[in-house]
Amino acid sequence: MDMKTFGYLYYKTRGYSPEDIIKQAGISEVDFEFLEKNLQDVLKEIEMLRPVAENIGQDFTRLTRYIYERESDQTLGVPRPDAIKVRSGEIVPLPATGTLKMPEMPLAKAIEQRRSVRKYSAIPLQQEELSFLLWASSWARDFRSSEQMEITFRNVPSAGSRHPLETFLDIRRVEGIKPGLYYYHPVKHCLVLYDDSPEIAAKIHEGCMFQEMIPKAAVNFILTAVPYRTVWRYGQRGYRYLYLDAGHIGQNIHLAAEAIDAGACMIGAFLDEAMNEALGLDGIEEFVIYIASVGKKP
Ligand SMILES: Cc1cc2nc3c(=O)[nH]c(=O)nc-3n(C[C@H](O)[C@H](O)[C@H](O)COP(=O)(O)O)c2cc1C
Repeated sequence: MDMKTFGYLYYKTRGYSPEDIIKQAGISEVDFEFLEKNLQDVLKEIEMLRPVAENIGQDFTRLTRYIYERESDQTLGVPRPDAIKVRSGEIVPLPATGTLKMPEMPLAKAIEQRRSVRKYSAIPLQQEELSFLLWASSWARDFRSSEQMEITFRNVPSAGSRHPLETFLDIRRVEGIKPGLYYYHPVKHCLVLYDDSPEIAAKIHEGCMFQEMIPKAAVNFILTAVPYRTVWRYGQRGYRYLYLDAGHIGQNIHLAAEAIDAGACMIGAFLDEAMNEALGLDGIEEFVIYIASVGKKP
């Protein structure tokens, strides 16, 4: 969904007049007429679901209590999901984790000086630094696979070590790596080129509602969730864990960034439709859950 469509739906469902929708959504009269004609079903669906949406937070918390739990797919013997979603494309190797020169900043200092940093210097990140950020946040130090269970262990905790989050990198300024959207393979510790079309950077900026840090960052971490990896073991309660797991990754990105004289800003304000579309995700089996901009401090 593009911003025009989103803007139209957003203001229309809030009862704005046609003139105000055109103004607020930044669309032309022709766009407005076209959207009016073609989005009637979508509008009806939004109106129908609005009462459900109004209480979804409380319902989610209440209905994911153990009292409502049923036997999980794992207990029922449903085949296990894979621990990693393999994506094909041009491989870009990264400095191996075992060769990294670890930064020496004391942990207390990193914690104490951490702030959300939204302005970055033009200095690019070095590949070693990117490799370190990935080591801290997403790298799988162990991978075990059998018929019953496939699992990774990483430097962040995850409920049942299901690690349902995948890491994409919107690389803008990393020494020796051409800009583009990459998938990070957590076991092979390499990048896989996912989208190097000229539009991808702008799509991500738009999907993050044009927040200032996106184009200035050296790299934007885009974390996606594959819920079934966790739901297989924990049922619907597993959805709680996706967000908790994302928080751990975010904090490790923050602290690791501090340690290399970089700064990070977490982003929860993004347009789901636009971000999922930019990454080619269906928004249900896999969806964007959290974003982190990182760059050298100014
Ligand atoms: C879940 C979450 C979502 C956030 N989303 C955004 C965002 O979309 N844009 C932004 O500028 N900052 C965002 N932030 C950063 C917060 O605004 C920031 O952490 C807060 O203002 C406290 O400042 P500090 O991090 O410097 O201590 C987010 C932080 C978290 C934890």
